[in-house]
Amino acid sequence: MTLSTEMTALRTVVASVEMAKELTNLRDLETGAHIERMARYSRVIAKGMASKIGLIDEFVEHVYLFAPLHDIGKIGIPDKILLKEGRLDPDEKKIMQTHVKKGIEIIEKILGDFNLQQLAKSKVMRNVVAFHHELMDDSGYRKGIKGEAIPIEGRVVTMGDVLDALVSSWPYKSRLVFR
Ligand SMILES: [Fe+2]
Ligand SMILES: [Fe+2]
Repeated sequence: MTLSTEMTALRTVVASVEMAKELTNLRDLETGAHIERMARYSRVIAKGMASKIGLIDEFVEHVYLFAPLHDIGKIGIPDKILLKEGRLDPDEKKIMQTHVKKGIEIIEKILGDFNLQQLAKSKVMRNVVAFHHELMDDSGYRKGIKGEAIPIEGRVVTMGDVLDALVSSWPYKSRLVFR
């Protein structure tokens, strides 16, 4: 890819990300404020790790750019589960967890439509969605993988997301939970 094609491609991805963010907000899944905060936390976390494990600035910015997409798959979850207050029963939980798979499908569709699957940055975009519910001790989903088997961008975004759910959840905002 030439530099100018790559720039155009990147602009296209950014436009898609913006569109996806709008869609997410439309269904009142999580407030725009949560998405902004978790993306900023993710950037701070990635920056903090950068010098220790050799992450480049570009990677840190891509994490920030794509973090808002983590829950895009929730577009495909029925309202009665998505908007339910309180705990989900085991069947509802299973359905809720499919938002990761649905999210991957949406990302693949965006990348496919714009012919961007090969773009290096598309990997970060994909992984942010695919691995944002994996946990270090393998108790997460969708793959249930552990520690360093989880791509770094997945670990960073999960931390940013959980951190915001923890510091921003108040009794009157009980919907802001990590699931
Ligand atoms: Fe999620
Ligand atoms: Fe979130």
